[in-house]
Amino acid sequence: MGKEYSIGVVPGDGIGPEIITQAEKVLTATEKAFGFRLNFTKYPLGGDHFLKTKQLLPEEILTELASQKAILLGAIGHPGVPPGILEREIVLSMRFRMDLYINLRPIKLYPGVETVLKGKGPDDIDLIIVRENTEGLYAGVGGCLNRNTDKEVAVQESINTYGAVHRCLQYAFELAGRRPRRKLTLVAKTNVLNYASDLWKRVFDALSLEYPEVETNYNHIDAANMWLVKNPENYSVIVTDNLFGDIISDLGAILAGGLGLAAGGNIHPGKTSMFEPIGGSAPKYTGLDVANPLAAILSAGLMLDDLGEKEAAKAVEQAVIKTISTMDGMSAGRMGAGTNAIGDRVRNFILDPELKKGG
Ligand code: IPM
Ligand code: MG
Repeated sequence: MGKEYSIGVVPGDGIGPEIITQAEKVLTATEKAFGFRLNFTKYPLGGDHFLKTKQLLPEEILTELASQKAILLGAIGHPGVPPGILEREIVLSMRFRMDLYINLRPIKLYPGVETVLKGKGPDDIDLIIVRENTEGLYAGVGGCLNRNTDKEVAVQESINTYGAVHRCLQYAFELAGRRPRRKLTLVAKTNVLNYASDLWKRVFDALSLEYPEVETNYNHIDAANMWLVKNPENYSVIVTDNLFGDIISDLGAILAGGLGLAAGGNIHPGKTSMFEPIGGSAPKYTGLDVANPLAAILSAGLMLDDLGEKEAAKAVEQAVIKTISTMDGMSAGRMGAGTNAIGDRVRNFILDPELKKGG
């Protein structure tokens, strides 16, 4: 028997539990096929739990989660809870308090998945977004005067520290250096954000001297939205701040077949990291067996990679590719099979000895 890993599982709200069930099914198959053990502990965090108990993310649960080897999260967001509470107090709280400073979002169009972009295929859409995950406009710094009057003043400040910018850019340079196309694009807004984006650009330029093998490029965020749609093939790794990264990663997700396929990781290299699909809890699709579980399954694959189980991680991605090839096309809004059946197919490919041989 190989290594053992403790995995904290937060299924969450809406479609979260059903897609996480499929991810667990696939992970259990990788245990068998690759000879390691995953010990799952479930945490019932989310909207229902909050409505029942008034608990969001209690300190002792956070400590317990942080002591796991990795965390897998489904989705957080509940129609019965005003927007922002669960997101801030559970998802953002985990990112900030565990210092998960990289939000990694691969944008990869798999063969057989239809993109909204005319004339583009898998060779054109294969990039990774590295989003700073602990600062920026998400830091919650600001305040408000004269609330609910016509003299209201709302201030929301973007926090950018040298340390956080530097470690994020360094991660992105390292990642870009390991990719077949060693190219890194900084996305910011230096023409307007003369303090925040200026810091990013200066640190980017300084670091580029340490990574001469990485080709560098800079885009303003508005132009990046346009170029990413027009010429996605020009990107390999994009690095950007928290809010720009949030926005551009949904754009990226739709280019690669939609949120049902969009995986993500909240990473602190060397420490407990949290893996979650980019998409939300989609309450109206809950329990209908129509939610695409591949985003959750691919997120579980990213988790295996982070744990060092590289072969198993590759097998998950290969099994997903094979599963997609058994469908009569897949796109945002069309899956070709139910949630559970897709999970079964991925699991069966993992258990198929042919896959291990690369067949
Ligand atoms: C994401 C989501 C979150 C974010 C929300 C749910 C707080 O949109 O992970 O991209 O804005 O980061
Ligand atoms: Mg988002």
